[in-house]
Amino acid sequence: MDIRITHSQVKKEKYTDESTLGFGRFFTDHMFEVTYTKDKGWHNAEILPYHRLSLDPASSVLHYAQEFFEGMKAYRTDDNQILLFRAKDNCARLNRSAQRICMPEIDIDFNYKAIKTLVDIERDWVPSSEGSSLYLRPTMIANDETLGVKAASNYLYYIICSPSGAYYKDGLSPINIKVEDKYVRAVRGGTGEAKTGGNYAASIKAGDEAVKLGFSQVLWLDGEEMKYVEEVGAMNMMFLIDNKLVTAKLNGSILPGITRDSVLTLARDMGITVEERKIAVEELVDAGKSGRLTEAFGTGTAAVISPVGMLAYKNEQVIINNRKIGELSMNLYNTLTGIQRGRIKDKFGWITVV
Ligand code: PLP
Ligand code: COI
Repeated sequence: MDIRITHSQVKKEKYTDESTLGFGRFFTDHMFEVTYTKDKGWHNAEILPYHRLSLDPASSVLHYAQEFFEGMKAYRTDDNQILLFRAKDNCARLNRSAQRICMPEIDIDFNYKAIKTLVDIERDWVPSSEGSSLYLRPTMIANDETLGVKAASNYLYYIICSPSGAYYKDGLSPINIKVEDKYVRAVRGGTGEAKTGGNYAASIKAGDEAVKLGFSQVLWLDGEEMKYVEEVGAMNMMFLIDNKLVTAKLNGSILPGITRDSVLTLARDMGITVEERKIAVEELVDAGKSGRLTEAFGTGTAAVISPVGMLAYKNEQVIINNRKIGELSMNLYNTLTGIQRGRIKDKFGWITVV
């Protein structure tokens, strides 16, 4: 399928100070859009000026949340090349979300072409300061104009781009996390491993209550026993226990993070023992108290690597590494962002030049 391109006649005013970008607040001049109908399949692929969507109030996505999204980034190198990081892996995960939410898949090569073409058109919007990037948000929504609860016949897929800085306002400063012991995010057989809006809607109340108590995020426990650690709202979690890097095994209710996979690959490459397994929250608390839990951090596209300085579970507080970023966390952050910014050789085939 060809992509029709219509350049915007009006250019938006650009930010002057990259340090004020924040996350997901500004959007570029263009977006990609393609339509699906049962009869025609995917058709009408376009890059066109960024615009508002016009949806019928009965549109299925607005009622039954049949939608999913992705998150990936484009980076500027010191010599002004634009790099994409593992974008094809995002296209593949997008199709796994599509299967789970009963929505049409998109050919990976076509999707990748759409992403690259859009980023090429928006290349001037890719920021250059440390920690900044152009965050890409591919999104698919169901768009039938009827209130019946069933898989829709009409869909819209679009990609928008947002020049962004750090996800957490304090960047690499260790955050405080509350282990959630009342609400759950995902259950066995549910949609936890899909990147669908409903998972995030289900998490907002707990997040809101945690923020009021002075935490940045909640750490979810499994939905059955509320015993095993799963992930944080926008990140997978890693723990350095007895010098082994431990993370929750993918079990169907955790998002298979691309940063998670990258960090595990880098850690193995550094000779660190990695364990993907069930982690009981009590084990974490005990390891924290006995000094065997020496580092903890979250991983995610938006959050990159986010050190955790304190975990609170019920009445217990575990302070990690004196609330300072640990050596391994820093090393992994430097290596990962070094590859993403083209400063460290990419021996894993993760980078594409746009
Ligand atoms: N878990 C959840 C719930 C997320 O929203 C994200 C962010 O995308 C992640 C984990 C990390 O995934 P990735 O590294 O692919 O961005
Ligand atoms: C990402 O890291 O790409 C995400 O989707 C996180 C988002 C929920 C803020």
